[in-house]
Amino acid sequence: MRDKPWIFEEYEVEGIPWISVGNFPTRVHKLSNLGEAVGFEDIWIKRDDQSSDKYGGNKIRKFEFVLADALEKKRKWIITYGGLGSNQTLAMTIHARAYGLKTIAVLVDQPITRHVIENLWLMHYFGAHISYAGNTTMAMLKTIWHFLTKRGVYMVPVGASNALGTLGYVDAMIELKRQVDSGEIPMPKYIFVAVGSCGTYAGLLLGKKLLNLDVEIRGVKVTQMKMTNPKNIVKLANKALNLLREHSRDVPDVKIDERDVILDGNYLGQGYGFPTQECLEAISLMEKTEHIKLEPVYTGKALAALIDFARKEHDGPLLFWNTYNSVDFSDILKKLDVQKLPKKIRKVIERKEQIGVKMIKEF
Ligand SMILES: Cc1ncc(COP(=O)(O)O)c(C=O)c1O
Repeated sequence: MRDKPWIFEEYEVEGIPWISVGNFPTRVHKLSNLGEAVGFEDIWIKRDDQSSDKYGGNKIRKFEFVLADALEKKRKWIITYGGLGSNQTLAMTIHARAYGLKTIAVLVDQPITRHVIENLWLMHYFGAHISYAGNTTMAMLKTIWHFLTKRGVYMVPVGASNALGTLGYVDAMIELKRQVDSGEIPMPKYIFVAVGSCGTYAGLLLGKKLLNLDVEIRGVKVTQMKMTNPKNIVKLANKALNLLREHSRDVPDVKIDERDVILDGNYLGQGYGFPTQECLEAISLMEKTEHIKLEPVYTGKALAALIDFARKEHDGPLLFWNTYNSVDFSDILKKLDVQKLPKKIRKVIERKEQIGVKMIKEF
């Protein structure tokens, strides 16, 4: 547990809410076995999957700012959004609960896979109020309903990607730079990271600009949605920059524009939540060579991009930013019983199976 984030050590910052939620810094190490398997040695990993003992992954850095704000404002409920198997709504359910806040998870459709059902079960298990919306219009209506019927609701956007959440990944870039400076890892030439709601990429990019680092951040697009685009990344990075500069005189006024963004859509396949063949191969190679578990929505696709790059370009060092969670929930998942899920969710799962969106059940 830290008493302040690296960002407040780097710059004198006044009045931005922050609490310590995760265990930082996260480890960096070489993926020698994976490197050997793909024929390129210089591959490294940043273990944000180990960012918390409760539930890890990339959301934890964002929550250190977002949850602090909700607590400062004395809210009782968090309302947040995602696909049916959202890691973010699950992470929020678990972490908000530790501070006495309840989470309303407003969920829209995504292909039903084993991974999705497991996340639904875990949300249910940890006490989320699951509010099935199906699509974004219904999600808006549900939001209005929750605001009208509950007191003290705090809204967290999809992926916790707002200016506050984005600061979590500015902080992460400062952390990485310190690990480079202390010799734990060479300065990566390329970072590979999954991009959904864009906050993770935007924070890393702003961090890179503020620290003037020579690294190419290769974002791997995992949704076909409007929000996943360079414009949104630049907007989020600039919002986070403005927020920082409003609260600190030390922060330089860096310029960020769309030319700074690399967003690769070649690994998306059919769309959000649809596993591709190369994604499944990447997951299984990582598990076999390094015993690190990934998932098919985000990290499998990001790793597929890295492996392809390593094989074709033979250039590095390459850094894979692991944004998934590695806390093991197998004991809780042993109790998984779809029949115990809320009726609406059960119906969705059954309907999807009937219309053949069953997908690859083992995930
Ligand atoms: C495992 C994982 N990786 C990456 C991301 C993408 O991060 P962002 O939404 O900040 O682009 C998410 C978002 O939910 C995620 O759950």
